[in-house]
Amino acid sequence: MKYKIAVIPGDGTGPEVIKEGLKVLEAVSQKFNFSYEKVIYDLGAERFLKTGEVLPESVLKELAGFNAIYLGAIGDPRVKPGILEKGILLKLRFHFDQYVNLRPVILYDARFCPLKDKKEEDVDFVVIRENTEGLYCGAGGFFKKDTPDEIAIQESINTYKGVERVVRFAFEYARKRNKKKKVTLCGKTNVLTYAFDLWERVFYKVGRDYPDIEKDYAHVDAICMWMVKNPEWFDVIVTDNMFGDIITDLGAIIQGGLGIACGANINPEGVSMFEPIGGSAPKYTGKNVINPLAAICALSLMLDFLGEKEASLQVEEAVKRVVREKLKSLSAGKMGYTTQEVGDLVVKML
Ligand code: IPM
Ligand code: MN
Repeated sequence: MKYKIAVIPGDGTGPEVIKEGLKVLEAVSQKFNFSYEKVIYDLGAERFLKTGEVLPESVLKELAGFNAIYLGAIGDPRVKPGILEKGILLKLRFHFDQYVNLRPVILYDARFCPLKDKKEEDVDFVVIRENTEGLYCGAGGFFKKDTPDEIAIQESINTYKGVERVVRFAFEYARKRNKKKKVTLCGKTNVLTYAFDLWERVFYKVGRDYPDIEKDYAHVDAICMWMVKNPEWFDVIVTDNMFGDIITDLGAIIQGGLGIACGANINPEGVSMFEPIGGSAPKYTGKNVINPLAAICALSLMLDFLGEKEASLQVEEAVKRVVREKLKSLSAGKMGYTTQEVGDLVVKML
């Protein structure tokens, strides 16, 4: 089997961490005997600053021909916030209708958890973030901009179809995960009485098809509190785009930091995209100090999605061992090893 993988190293530390991910990909492909072809795309700040191009139509067309996209990071202090993020990252999520943003929150080593008295088994859940709707649609606009009467409106779009498919994915995932068998809807039904009314109705309606899965609801503010106080309550959390963005940064920090947090942007019938979620980290760029494990965990998610289950598990296992047996910290510059050395350690563990 030959996989076609599009690689977008992107901005900042993106290229450094993707390089380590590709090293691990090469090693597992040999061990598990699968072949792949990779094509590197130079999307990001450099290309934009040189040519004015963000994401050309021709590239979008080409990307449709790949089995998966492996992305490093997008964002650069030299470019006005939003241009690259909306023009590349969000554009790809929307264009390929990657309606699930799956972000595991797993603590590999309790030493790196900022929560008091929590063990590895206490932090083990997955956030399923809706990835193509909500406040991220860009609906709204300005009225009387730059005058004292200015009005700015930003609307959250929630469609029945969009909510239904991501909620169903969450229930299916909880069943497949086969742990606590529980899905928690994260919303704000006490204030956002239209959007989360729809979410809640759909959640319990779809939930009827999953009698084996426990249904649970919590407001987003309470979820934030419980993720700190009782993370062991959660198994699968499903939520909208904006809440999902916020709670997954909180999730990242309780699993040890952005150095280990990864995500999958999934269209089950289309082209999916896998990324570390830490961003481009400009202040660490080019220093060989950034933690590549988030990118390597994203690779593990990609392998699982491609159907290379054993390879995926072994990459995850190797990451876990490197974290437990080698690293002094998961944070950039404090790991006790360079970016490249951490990549090498994972390959060695394999
Ligand atoms: C993330 C990021 C993006 C988001 C930004 C960079 C547009 O924060 O992937 O969580 O808000 O989705
Ligand atoms: Mn985010």
